[in-house]
Amino acid sequence: MCGIVGAVGLDTVENFLIDGLRRLEYRGYDSAGIAVLQPDGAVRRARSVGKVAMLDASRDRAITGHTGIAHTRWATHGGATENNAHPHRAGRVTLVHNGIIENFQELRRSLQADGYSFQSETDTEVVAGLLDRALARTGSAKAAMLDVVPQLQGAYALAVLFDTEPGMLFGARHGAPLLAGMKAGAGFIASDALALTGYASHVCYLENGDLVAVTKDGIEVFGVDGVKHQRELHKSSGSAILADKGNYKYFMLKEIHEQAEVVGRTLTAHVDALGSTVKQHEGLDLSRANRILIIGCGTAALAGRVAEYWLEGLAGIPVDVDIASEFRYRDPVLSPDDVAIFISQSGETADTLEAMRLCKEAGAKTIALVNTLHSTMARDADLVLPTLAGPEIGVASTKAFTCQLIVLASLALLVAKQRGRLTGEQEVEQVTDLLEVPGLISEALDIESQIAEMAVELATKQTVLYLGRHQFFPLALEGALKLKEISYIHAEGYAAGELKHGPIALIEPGVSVIAIAPHDALFAKTQSSIEQVLARGGSVIAITDEAGAKALASTPVDIVKLPSSSGMATAFACTIAIQLIAYYVAVEKGTDVDQPRNLAKSVTVE
Ligand code: G6P
Repeated sequence: MCGIVGAVGLDTVENFLIDGLRRLEYRGYDSAGIAVLQPDGAVRRARSVGKVAMLDASRDRAITGHTGIAHTRWATHGGATENNAHPHRAGRVTLVHNGIIENFQELRRSLQADGYSFQSETDTEVVAGLLDRALARTGSAKAAMLDVVPQLQGAYALAVLFDTEPGMLFGARHGAPLLAGMKAGAGFIASDALALTGYASHVCYLENGDLVAVTKDGIEVFGVDGVKHQRELHKSSGSAILADKGNYKYFMLKEIHEQAEVVGRTLTAHVDALGSTVKQHEGLDLSRANRILIIGCGTAALAGRVAEYWLEGLAGIPVDVDIASEFRYRDPVLSPDDVAIFISQSGETADTLEAMRLCKEAGAKTIALVNTLHSTMARDADLVLPTLAGPEIGVASTKAFTCQLIVLASLALLVAKQRGRLTGEQEVEQVTDLLEVPGLISEALDIESQIAEMAVELATKQTVLYLGRHQFFPLALEGALKLKEISYIHAEGYAAGELKHGPIALIEPGVSVIAIAPHDALFAKTQSSIEQVLARGGSVIAITDEAGAKALASTPVDIVKLPSSSGMATAFACTIAIQLIAYYVAVEKGTDVDQPRNLAKSVTVE
């Protein structure tokens, strides 16, 4: 969603700000802006609706200085207009903000009573007004921060520039990520570590309730009581090159192609490749757990739904999968014997974080299955199961999803072993299958040119239905979600067996059905769903394997033939197919594949 960058002590801070915003583009946004403190003491802003490139092209080159803040905004309070774009300014205060200030109307009224007027419809401008009023009253920027931050309700991260403190930036974190960074002679602030890689030598991740003052000489973290907080400084990791598309047209395609490597890397953290056994994780013992709850949003929740089949089937443990936004509002019945797994690429999704808080309160053990190791979710959970996908830039999740699946597959084996449901021989057999997944993914990518050809026709469709059974049902949901997200074609996923209970009414000539139908024990059932679609004039693409292709040889369907595999591994090959379909249809339609309209990479508001 929104992104924050700021720096103090750089020669031409505006160049850093624009570069930082570019690196945050992947998070999804609809307007952008920068504010720079000029050498003459004036703060000047440039803001624009649309892409950072538009802001960069249109900005006044005379806006230059050593200290500045910048923002990409994903509209919540007020439309995507230049006036609503950040940075906002009131009196001697300029600021950018991620999140939502829930009590902004009441605060706005109190400012209006004191003669403040507003240029925008945002909750952010209200915070600028409050800080300006507090600055006038207290005479100090720090005192103004200490006065205003406790008045704010909601989840937010702020970066603030006071005219009266030209060598300093302030920040505050409450429920939305923020970090500070430094190198010799410069200080930084950002909502995402990716903005600072290559700039800061060290970074410091703020905790909820932290305020920070950043200067060219260092970082000072303190609480709302003004008392200093000790926070660890981490060497800034990663490299800016990670945010480079290389030879690929879009990050999404690069990330699809990276999957063999990152899934393999993630797998080795969870299994012992030499002995073909699953690794034990300290503190992870589910032998006596009552049930497993799996909670997430979007694609992450769908990874959980795939794993439900694996965990129940292999480990014989009850599993309930929930969408975080529903879970948090439905009075879930929880017990301290429950183990709750929270799946999230970012580790910052607001609904998932709130669901985790509820589970913690109920005394359940919490496990964060996250890709971002310094995220709030990773820090708040009892235990972390990392995915090692590296930064995922495309808004539509691909490599994070397959990495989540490989962790969940390993976990299903581990829990099965702990609960006495897996013999040593079976363990070796199953782990050997998982070790073949990276190779399987590479081979599955051979279908790419065929999918690119099929996409020409698919891109003309109004509606596409995805069908699957067992573990391929959640993949049908994921296939439909991917297509919807990036090609804007109406798509739905169904359990193949449900076809006759409703969706079949949609079938008529012109409707396309994508059946995820590898030749497993339920193949014949899915084959009969395919026949039902064909009988009503629909056209079918069958994602299958050698044996499935043979069985469908005399059926008038388009076949996408994946390399043969079995068990959990097959889900990975099918995932490659549904990702490529969504990608090539979107390319054919000419949409903004990496930053689809209205979507954000990490949804840090409710
Ligand atoms: C957004 C993204 C999805 C993602 C979901 C959950 O909606 O557009 O791609 O699956 O958030 O994000 P998380 O970071 O928690 O995995």
